[in-house]
Amino acid sequence: MASEFVLGMYPEANACLQSNRKSELDGIDATASKKIPLQQGYPPCKMVDRVSEIMKEACQKRLTEEAKTGSNLLHYGFRMGDPLFRAQLAKFLTDQYGYDVRKERLLATCGATSGLYHLCTMFFSPGDLVFAEEPSYYLALEMMEKDIKRKIIHVPLDTKGILPEELESTVKQFYPKEGFVPSKERLYWSMVYLISCFQNPTGACLSEDRCKAVVAIARKYHLLVVSDDLYGPLHWSFDTYGRTPSHAPKPLKYFDREEDEGFFGNVVSNNSFSKIMAPGLRIGWMEGPPVVLAKFACSAYFVSAGDFNHFTSGLLGTALESGAITNHIVETRRQYKEKIVAMQQVFEEKLKGVIKYSLPEGGFFVWIQLPTNMNCDDLMALCQKKYNVTFACGNKFTKNPGSLSNFIRISFSHLEKDTFIEGVKELSDAILELKATNDSQ
Ligand SMILES: Cc1ncc(COP(=O)(O)O)c(C=O)c1O
Repeated sequence: MASEFVLGMYPEANACLQSNRKSELDGIDATASKKIPLQQGYPPCKMVDRVSEIMKEACQKRLTEEAKTGSNLLHYGFRMGDPLFRAQLAKFLTDQYGYDVRKERLLATCGATSGLYHLCTMFFSPGDLVFAEEPSYYLALEMMEKDIKRKIIHVPLDTKGILPEELESTVKQFYPKEGFVPSKERLYWSMVYLISCFQNPTGACLSEDRCKAVVAIARKYHLLVVSDDLYGPLHWSFDTYGRTPSHAPKPLKYFDREEDEGFFGNVVSNNSFSKIMAPGLRIGWMEGPPVVLAKFACSAYFVSAGDFNHFTSGLLGTALESGAITNHIVETRRQYKEKIVAMQQVFEEKLKGVIKYSLPEGGFFVWIQLPTNMNCDDLMALCQKKYNVTFACGNKFTKNPGSLSNFIRISFSHLEKDTFIEGVKELSDAILELKATNDSQ
């Protein structure tokens, strides 16, 4: 078959093959547009530089120790992951979340995208349903729908996360009349994908009541809930004296308690070091119930290859042990909070009563409702023409066409404070100009 014919099957093929930049695939070529890119959900360059120093030290230390003991991270790994990584990660998570995270429940991955992909393909098949928040992280939706042919069914959320009553009524519409009985071949009837802490794009956190309700629904309808929890440790809620950071909001997994009567194991916390350290590390982890972890541990994939990311997870084990990662996160939170406070001042001065948004207490994102009847595509067109700023259109975060065109998402993580605030001011001016035009029509 001629290669033109094969490539012709993918309209975007040539663009994807020729462009090697992630930002272009995000829909906006930030490098080419030279505008202030408020859409980019990446950590800041200076922080990634700091991670580089942490990794240099960890690599030096770990490989020197390995030379003395005769062990070698470059051999095939353990099925469930490097023991130091699992032990140090459990300690780190216990400190971050304030509950006892057990190392036996952790498995290294190559990041949250890898974790989600493998959970989908290990437990489900093409054509299966995935219940997902609306709005949600658009590339996870794309990956599940386009790459592995799942059918996305949206469920709405508000400032406290997904609405459990809506989740249950939506699930019921599809649940088999004859019920479902788990078997070795099929452990779960269907899957729920959500982001329980500092959601992408809304910044919402699932409240404790709703966490409990979602777990009860998952148990009742034999659902596997995969929660991307990448943003939890990036919170800046402080204790009553305003000095020491309190714990991060507990991830949904915490509420699927093994001591509960009727426990099966319905929630996986799918995590990553991409946001709290650096995405190029391609390292993450799952905190999962025994029934999920056993499926991986017994798979031929693991028997053949060992755990997903042996070398890097080993280095991360050493970096976690040194305390450098915790210090790095504390500094990151401080800088993010500064940017959010400055952003709030600009919005108060320029856009009071014009836009609606909830001030996030962590994560990377602010979800903004534009004035009534203002369309994000019109705003983008105006910015492309006249203002020095780009952002992410609400439309991207749903599979229901047009349902979120009154929203935009901006990210405060990547840009240095001054540039970020300049972008926020540009955006505010663009919103005011478009509002004046719309109002006069
Ligand atoms: C909710 C969510 N999941 C997954 C990812 C990607 O994570 P990773 O780099 O670990 O694959 C992102 C990145 O934006 C995200 O926001």
